[in-house]
Amino acid sequence: MKFANYQQHNIAYECEGKGSPIVLLHGFCADSWMWADLKKDLLEEGHQVITIDLPGFGQSDVIPAVTIPQMAEAVQAVVQELKLSPFVLIGHSMGGYVSLAYHQQHDYNIKGLTLFHSHPYADTEETKEKRQKNIDFISRQGSALFVKQLIPQLFVEGFTRMNAYTVDRLIHRAARFQPEGIMQALNAMKNRADQSKTLENVNCPVLFLIGGKETIIPHEWSMKQTTLPAIAHVHTLDKTNHMGMFSAKSTSQKIIREFILFCQ
Ligand code: MLT
Repeated sequence: MKFANYQQHNIAYECEGKGSPIVLLHGFCADSWMWADLKKDLLEEGHQVITIDLPGFGQSDVIPAVTIPQMAEAVQAVVQELKLSPFVLIGHSMGGYVSLAYHQQHDYNIKGLTLFHSHPYADTEETKEKRQKNIDFISRQGSALFVKQLIPQLFVEGFTRMNAYTVDRLIHRAARFQPEGIMQALNAMKNRADQSKTLENVNCPVLFLIGGKETIIPHEWSMKQTTLPAIAHVHTLDKTNHMGMFSAKSTSQKIIREFILFCQ
Protein backbone atom coordinates (compact mmCIF):
# COMPACT_ATOMS: atom_id res chain seq x y z
CA MET A 1 0.00 0.00 0.00
CA LYS A 2 1.29 3.46 -0.88
CA PHE A 3 0.00 6.83 0.25
CA ALA A 4 -0.70 10.10 -1.52
CA ASN A 5 -1.23 13.28 0.43
CA TYR A 6 -4.47 15.20 0.22
CA GLN A 7 -4.69 18.24 2.49
CA GLN A 8 -2.39 16.59 5.05
CA HIS A 9 -4.38 13.36 4.96
CA ASN A 10 -3.05 9.99 3.80
CA ILE A 11 -4.89 8.45 0.88
CA ALA A 12 -3.99 4.78 0.44
CA TYR A 13 -3.66 3.29 -3.00
CA GLU A 14 -2.12 0.46 -4.94
CA CYS A 15 -0.88 0.61 -8.50
CA GLU A 16 0.11 -2.54 -10.33
CA GLY A 17 0.83 -3.55 -13.89
CA LYS A 18 1.74 -1.67 -17.02
CA GLY A 19 -0.53 -0.66 -19.87
CA SER A 20 -3.56 1.56 -20.12
CA PRO A 21 -4.62 2.69 -16.64
CA ILE A 22 -7.89 1.66 -15.00
CA VAL A 23 -8.89 3.32 -11.70
CA LEU A 24 -11.24 1.44 -9.35
CA LEU A 25 -13.24 3.17 -6.59
CA HIS A 26 -15.03 1.04 -4.01
CA GLY A 27 -18.43 1.73 -2.44
CA PHE A 28 -19.62 2.61 1.06
CA CYS A 29 -18.26 0.49 3.93
CA ALA A 30 -15.84 -1.27 1.62
CA ASP A 31 -12.25 -0.79 0.53
CA SER A 32 -9.92 -1.74 -2.31
CA TRP A 33 -10.12 -5.41 -1.35
CA MET A 34 -13.54 -5.65 -2.98
CA TRP A 35 -11.82 -5.31 -6.36
CA ALA A 36 -9.31 -8.15 -5.85
CA ASP A 37 -10.81 -10.44 -8.54
CA LEU A 38 -11.50 -7.73 -11.11
CA LYS A 39 -8.02 -6.35 -10.53
CA LYS A 40 -6.45 -9.75 -11.18
CA ASP A 41 -8.47 -10.09 -14.37
CA LEU A 42 -7.49 -6.63 -15.62
CA LEU A 43 -3.82 -7.20 -14.79
CA GLU A 44 -3.93 -10.40 -16.84
CA GLU A 45 -5.41 -8.36 -19.69
CA GLY A 46 -2.32 -6.15 -19.59
CA HIS A 47 -3.69 -3.05 -17.89
CA GLN A 48 -2.26 -0.86 -15.16
CA VAL A 49 -4.72 -1.10 -12.26
CA ILE A 50 -5.03 1.54 -9.56
CA THR A 51 -7.22 0.91 -6.52
CA ILE A 52 -7.82 3.73 -4.06
CA ASP A 53 -9.19 3.57 -0.51
CA LEU A 54 -11.59 6.51 -0.27
CA PRO A 55 -11.25 8.76 2.82
CA GLY A 56 -12.30 6.98 6.03
CA PHE A 57 -12.08 3.48 4.50
CA GLY A 58 -9.37 0.85 4.23
CA GLN A 59 -6.07 2.44 5.14
CA SER A 60 -6.97 6.01 4.19
CA ASP A 61 -7.34 8.69 6.83
CA VAL A 62 -10.71 9.96 7.98
CA ILE A 63 -11.27 13.49 6.69
CA PRO A 64 -13.49 15.53 9.01
CA ALA A 65 -16.66 16.83 7.33
CA VAL A 66 -15.55 15.32 4.01
CA THR A 67 -17.74 15.88 0.95
CA ILE A 68 -18.11 13.78 -2.20
CA PRO A 69 -16.27 16.45 -4.28
CA GLN A 70 -13.43 16.33 -1.72
CA MET A 71 -13.26 12.55 -2.07
CA ALA A 72 -12.86 13.18 -5.81
CA GLU A 73 -10.02 15.62 -5.06
CA ALA A 74 -8.39 12.92 -2.93
CA VAL A 75 -8.58 10.65 -6.00
CA GLN A 76 -6.90 13.41 -8.02
CA ALA A 77 -4.06 13.52 -5.46
CA VAL A 78 -3.33 9.88 -6.36
CA VAL A 79 -3.74 10.52 -10.09
CA GLN A 80 -1.24 13.38 -9.88
CA GLU A 81 1.21 11.41 -7.76
CA LEU A 82 1.20 8.62 -10.36
CA LYS A 83 1.14 11.09 -13.29
CA LEU A 84 -1.54 8.93 -14.90
CA SER A 85 -2.45 9.33 -18.53
CA PRO A 86 -6.22 9.40 -19.28
CA PHE A 87 -7.87 6.35 -17.74
CA VAL A 88 -11.09 4.36 -17.49
CA LEU A 89 -12.75 5.08 -14.15
CA ILE A 90 -14.92 2.44 -12.49
CA GLY A 91 -16.96 3.39 -9.43
CA HIS A 92 -19.12 1.12 -7.33
CA SER A 93 -22.15 2.81 -5.77
CA MET A 94 -20.68 5.55 -3.53
CA GLY A 95 -17.53 5.19 -5.66
CA GLY A 96 -19.79 6.05 -8.62
CA TYR A 97 -20.91 9.25 -6.87
CA VAL A 98 -17.22 10.10 -6.44
CA SER A 99 -16.52 9.18 -10.08
CA LEU A 100 -19.16 11.62 -11.31
CA ALA A 101 -17.74 14.36 -9.06
CA TYR A 102 -14.30 13.49 -10.44
CA HIS A 103 -15.59 13.77 -13.98
CA GLN A 104 -17.04 17.17 -13.16
CA GLN A 105 -13.63 18.34 -11.90
CA HIS A 106 -11.24 16.64 -14.34
CA ASP A 107 -13.16 15.36 -17.36
CA TYR A 108 -10.02 15.55 -19.55
CA ASN A 109 -8.55 12.66 -17.51
CA ILE A 110 -11.35 10.18 -18.20
CA LYS A 111 -11.75 8.13 -21.34
CA GLY A 112 -14.47 5.83 -20.05
CA LEU A 113 -16.73 5.78 -17.02
CA THR A 114 -18.40 2.78 -15.40
CA LEU A 115 -21.21 3.23 -12.91
CA PHE A 116 -21.37 -0.15 -11.18
CA HIS A 117 -24.63 -0.25 -9.18
CA SER A 118 -24.61 3.53 -9.00
CA HIS A 119 -26.53 6.58 -10.26
CA PRO A 120 -26.31 10.39 -10.43
CA TYR A 121 -29.33 11.35 -8.33
CA ALA A 122 -29.25 13.12 -4.95
CA ASP A 123 -30.77 11.57 -1.82
CA THR A 124 -34.52 11.85 -1.33
CA GLU A 125 -35.72 13.39 1.95
CA GLU A 126 -36.55 9.88 3.15
CA THR A 127 -33.02 8.61 2.42
CA LYS A 128 -31.50 11.65 4.12
CA GLU A 129 -33.52 10.86 7.25
CA LYS A 130 -32.39 7.25 7.12
CA ARG A 131 -28.75 8.32 6.79
CA GLN A 132 -29.12 10.63 9.81
CA LYS A 133 -30.65 7.79 11.83
CA ASN A 134 -27.69 5.60 10.89
CA ILE A 135 -25.24 8.35 11.90
CA ASP A 136 -27.02 8.69 15.26
CA PHE A 137 -27.03 4.91 15.71
CA ILE A 138 -23.27 4.62 15.02
CA SER A 139 -22.41 7.54 17.27
CA ARG A 140 -24.29 5.80 20.12
CA GLN A 141 -23.41 2.15 19.48
CA GLY A 142 -20.28 2.12 17.30
CA SER A 143 -20.27 0.60 13.82
CA ALA A 144 -19.92 -3.18 14.41
CA LEU A 145 -23.64 -3.97 14.51
CA PHE A 146 -24.35 -1.48 11.71
CA VAL A 147 -21.98 -3.16 9.24
CA LYS A 148 -23.08 -6.64 10.32
CA GLN A 149 -26.64 -5.74 9.35
CA LEU A 150 -25.76 -3.70 6.26
CA ILE A 151 -23.49 -5.99 4.28
CA PRO A 152 -25.65 -9.13 3.93
CA GLN A 153 -28.43 -6.88 2.62
CA LEU A 154 -26.27 -6.00 -0.40
CA PHE A 155 -26.55 -9.56 -1.75
CA VAL A 156 -29.44 -11.75 -2.81
CA GLU A 157 -30.25 -14.15 -0.01
CA GLY A 158 -29.12 -17.29 -1.82
CA PHE A 159 -25.69 -15.79 -2.48
CA THR A 160 -25.18 -14.87 1.18
CA ARG A 161 -26.09 -18.44 2.19
CA MET A 162 -23.75 -20.06 -0.32
CA ASN A 163 -20.89 -17.57 0.07
CA ALA A 164 -20.74 -16.97 3.79
CA TYR A 165 -16.95 -16.68 3.71
CA THR A 166 -16.98 -13.72 1.28
CA VAL A 167 -19.80 -11.94 3.10
CA ASP A 168 -18.15 -12.51 6.50
CA ARG A 169 -14.87 -11.23 5.15
CA LEU A 170 -16.51 -8.02 3.93
CA ILE A 171 -18.19 -7.58 7.32
CA HIS A 172 -14.94 -8.26 9.13
CA ARG A 173 -13.06 -5.68 7.07
CA ALA A 174 -15.82 -3.08 7.44
CA ALA A 175 -15.91 -3.62 11.20
CA ARG A 176 -12.32 -2.38 11.35
CA PHE A 177 -13.01 0.98 9.67
CA GLN A 178 -13.21 3.87 12.08
CA PRO A 179 -16.85 4.62 12.99
CA GLU A 180 -16.03 8.29 12.40
CA GLY A 181 -15.11 7.54 8.76
CA ILE A 182 -18.38 5.68 8.19
CA MET A 183 -20.36 8.56 9.70
CA GLN A 184 -18.47 11.10 7.57
CA ALA A 185 -19.28 9.11 4.42
CA LEU A 186 -22.96 8.87 5.36
CA ASN A 187 -22.99 12.61 5.84
CA ALA A 188 -21.17 13.21 2.54
CA MET A 189 -23.71 11.06 0.65
CA LYS A 190 -26.61 12.77 2.42
CA ASN A 191 -25.39 16.20 1.34
CA ARG A 192 -24.26 15.36 -2.17
CA ALA A 193 -25.62 17.28 -5.14
CA ASP A 194 -27.56 15.79 -8.03
CA GLN A 195 -25.13 14.88 -10.82
CA SER A 196 -27.63 14.28 -13.65
CA LYS A 197 -26.25 17.23 -15.62
CA THR A 198 -22.71 15.87 -15.27
CA LEU A 199 -23.86 12.52 -16.63
CA GLU A 200 -25.76 14.23 -19.43
CA ASN A 201 -22.64 16.14 -20.45
CA VAL A 202 -20.01 13.39 -20.12
CA ASN A 203 -17.63 13.40 -23.03
CA CYS A 204 -16.74 9.70 -22.86
CA PRO A 205 -18.62 6.38 -23.11
CA VAL A 206 -20.45 5.27 -19.99
CA LEU A 207 -21.05 1.68 -18.90
CA PHE A 208 -23.97 1.01 -16.56
CA LEU A 209 -23.91 -2.25 -14.62
CA ILE A 210 -27.30 -2.77 -13.06
CA GLY A 211 -28.44 -5.41 -10.59
CA GLY A 212 -31.46 -7.36 -11.82
CA LYS A 213 -32.45 -7.84 -8.17
CA GLU A 214 -31.17 -4.50 -6.89
CA THR A 215 -32.74 -3.39 -3.60
CA ILE A 216 -30.50 -0.42 -2.74
CA ILE A 217 -31.12 1.66 -5.89
CA PRO A 218 -34.70 2.01 -7.21
CA HIS A 219 -34.93 0.12 -10.52
CA GLU A 220 -36.56 3.16 -12.12
CA TRP A 221 -33.47 5.27 -11.29
CA SER A 222 -31.08 2.62 -12.59
CA MET A 223 -32.91 2.64 -15.94
CA LYS A 224 -33.71 6.36 -16.18
CA GLN A 225 -30.06 7.41 -15.90
CA THR A 226 -29.05 5.32 -18.92
CA THR A 227 -30.73 7.79 -21.28
CA LEU A 228 -28.56 10.70 -20.07
CA PRO A 229 -25.13 10.22 -21.67
CA ALA A 230 -24.56 10.27 -25.42
CA ILE A 231 -22.82 6.87 -25.46
CA ALA A 232 -24.23 4.34 -23.02
CA HIS A 233 -23.56 0.63 -22.66
CA VAL A 234 -26.22 -0.90 -20.44
CA HIS A 235 -26.07 -4.35 -18.86
CA THR A 236 -28.34 -5.94 -16.30
CA LEU A 237 -26.77 -8.61 -14.13
CA ASP A 238 -29.39 -11.26 -13.40
CA LYS A 239 -29.69 -12.69 -9.90
CA THR A 240 -27.59 -9.81 -8.59
CA ASN A 241 -28.44 -7.25 -5.97
CA HIS A 242 -25.76 -4.59 -5.24
CA MET A 243 -22.50 -6.55 -5.46
CA GLY A 244 -22.11 -7.85 -9.00
CA MET A 245 -18.32 -8.01 -8.72
CA PHE A 246 -18.92 -11.02 -6.45
CA SER A 247 -22.27 -12.46 -7.50
CA ALA A 248 -21.82 -12.04 -11.27
CA LYS A 249 -18.04 -12.14 -11.24
CA SER A 250 -17.15 -13.56 -14.64
CA THR A 251 -20.05 -11.84 -16.46
CA SER A 252 -19.20 -8.43 -15.04
CA GLN A 253 -15.50 -8.93 -15.75
CA LYS A 254 -16.21 -9.82 -19.37
CA ILE A 255 -18.48 -6.78 -19.82
CA ILE A 256 -15.85 -4.49 -18.27
CA ARG A 257 -13.08 -5.94 -20.45
CA GLU A 258 -15.15 -5.32 -23.58
CA PHE A 259 -16.05 -1.81 -22.46
CA ILE A 260 -12.40 -0.96 -21.84
CA LEU A 261 -11.53 -2.21 -25.30
CA PHE A 262 -14.27 0.01 -26.73
CA CYS A 263 -12.88 3.04 -24.85
CA GLN A 264 -9.30 2.54 -26.09
C1 MLT B 1 -22.83 1.97 -1.49
O1 MLT B 1 -22.80 0.73 -1.64
O2 MLT B 1 -21.85 2.67 -1.75
C2 MLT B 1 -24.08 2.59 -0.93
O3 MLT B 1 -25.15 1.71 -1.02
C3 MLT B 1 -24.42 3.91 -1.57
C4 MLT B 1 -25.58 4.59 -0.91
O4 MLT B 1 -25.92 4.26 0.24
O5 MLT B 1 -26.17 5.49 -1.53
